[in-house]
Amino acid sequence: MKEWQKGGKLLIVDDEMHVRESLSSWFIEDGYEVETAKDANEALNLLSKKPFDIVITDIKMPGMDGVELQRRIKEVSPSVAVVLITAYASVQTAVQALKEGAYDYITKPFDPEQLSRVVEKALSQKKLKDENIVLKERISQALPQLVVGKSPQMQKVFELVEAVAPTDTTVLINGESGTGKELIARLIHAKSERCFGPLIAVNCGALPEGVLESELFGHEKGSFTGAIGRRKGKLELADSGTLFLDEIGEIPLKVQVELLRAIEDKKIVRVGGSEEIKVDFRVVCATNKDLLQLVKQGVFREDLYYRINVFVINLPPLRERKEDILILAESFLEKLRENMGRKVSGFSDEAKAILLNYDWPGNVRELYNAVERALVLCKEGKIKPEYLPIRIGKENQGLSPLEIFSLDEIEKKHIENVLKICNHNITKASKLLNIDRVTLYNKIKKYNLSKGNDED
Ligand SMILES: Nc1ncnc2c1ncn2[C@@H]1O[C@H](COP(=O)(O)OP(=O)(O)OP(=O)(O)O)[C@@H](O)[C@H]1O
Ligand SMILES: [Mg+2]
Repeated sequence: MKEWQKGGKLLIVDDEMHVRESLSSWFIEDGYEVETAKDANEALNLLSKKPFDIVITDIKMPGMDGVELQRRIKEVSPSVAVVLITAYASVQTAVQALKEGAYDYITKPFDPEQLSRVVEKALSQKKLKDENIVLKERISQALPQLVVGKSPQMQKVFELVEAVAPTDTTVLINGESGTGKELIARLIHAKSERCFGPLIAVNCGALPEGVLESELFGHEKGSFTGAIGRRKGKLELADSGTLFLDEIGEIPLKVQVELLRAIEDKKIVRVGGSEEIKVDFRVVCATNKDLLQLVKQGVFREDLYYRINVFVINLPPLRERKEDILILAESFLEKLRENMGRKVSGFSDEAKAILLNYDWPGNVRELYNAVERALVLCKEGKIKPEYLPIRIGKENQGLSPLEIFSLDEIEKKHIENVLKICNHNITKASKLLNIDRVTLYNKIKKYNLSKGNDED
């Protein structure tokens, strides 16, 4: 018997006891794990309690017949292969069952060798299918969501990610809240050789000292009040994968010492334990704080700072990469509208102008939330300004009375925005501005704006 056949789980369903017994001993001899049921109900009951690879069932049985049983099995456990046994007279029925998804059928009186071959083939196919499902799941976990960005700053970020991901170098991601630090950490993991290992994220800012310690290093039973069982910590769970330490600047000093030791020695000791456990993980950290400043204030250890400050990726705030605003908004729209069942086709030009003018203190996360909110309100057509959150719109309501601009400055700013909305298409921009193309050209020259492409 082949290695993969060992322990294949079989369920034999037949109303005749001697058939059940002879088939059962035949397949047990073959190395399968076998259970039997005398009718369809008993079979379904067993199937609901434990997993089987293959069901061999007679078609003609009192009560529910084999064909109906196979239908029910497909409903509850579609990956189970069903082999039907039929008298010659009901081959028609068997053929119908094949169409509905049965794996195969054999006719009575059957040759046990033939039945063995059919079952062997069914099992090998089932195992392949199961493996496929597992692989697909792993791949979809490993593949991060799309990371959007065409601004030069984001292009630079992507270059750094490509360079550092395949190595085991520690990465520190810096950026304001909502700029995509976690997303980039996941991208680094996905593009590394550790992608099939786990990515374990710890939010170091969310937990008090004692809890964080046991969260990171795990604990042994009874090591503190409430430690009921032994528990693995995140560092141990990250073995063979990536450890993402979010908000690293928030780690209490005491835990910083232990963390540094664990990172350097690649060994941990659970809280309340004494055994040293080897761990193998890659560290990616993120912070929205200036760590050097924290070092100067004495709240972040200098040695840990140098240990993690090896390869730094700075994520620029969204207001400093306005080129990304609209493509991010469009990509969120596309992603969300399907889930939300909306027929929304895009943003109106006015809404685009508002999105571009706003300064996005909450960065990409705020933009995502704004698009989601707009889709709640807008069911079809284009997203108009009234669907955007009020505070985003407000920033655009004229200039504050304290800021006095010359008319030229305002004209320049306005043309710049319109050009952005139109993707620097002069024809479109001149239409929106209600001036002819030559006038627009002259203004572009006058204000020294980038010209972009000329035609559609
Ligand atoms: N470049 C991008 N492309 C697509 N989606 C993005 C991008 N950047 C951020 N996002 C999305 O914006 C949201 C916020 O990103 P993320 O959680 O990674 O930010 P963060 O920097 O970790 O924020 P915080 O500091 O608040 O934890 C997420 O939904 C993320 O998927
Ligand atoms: Mg985050």
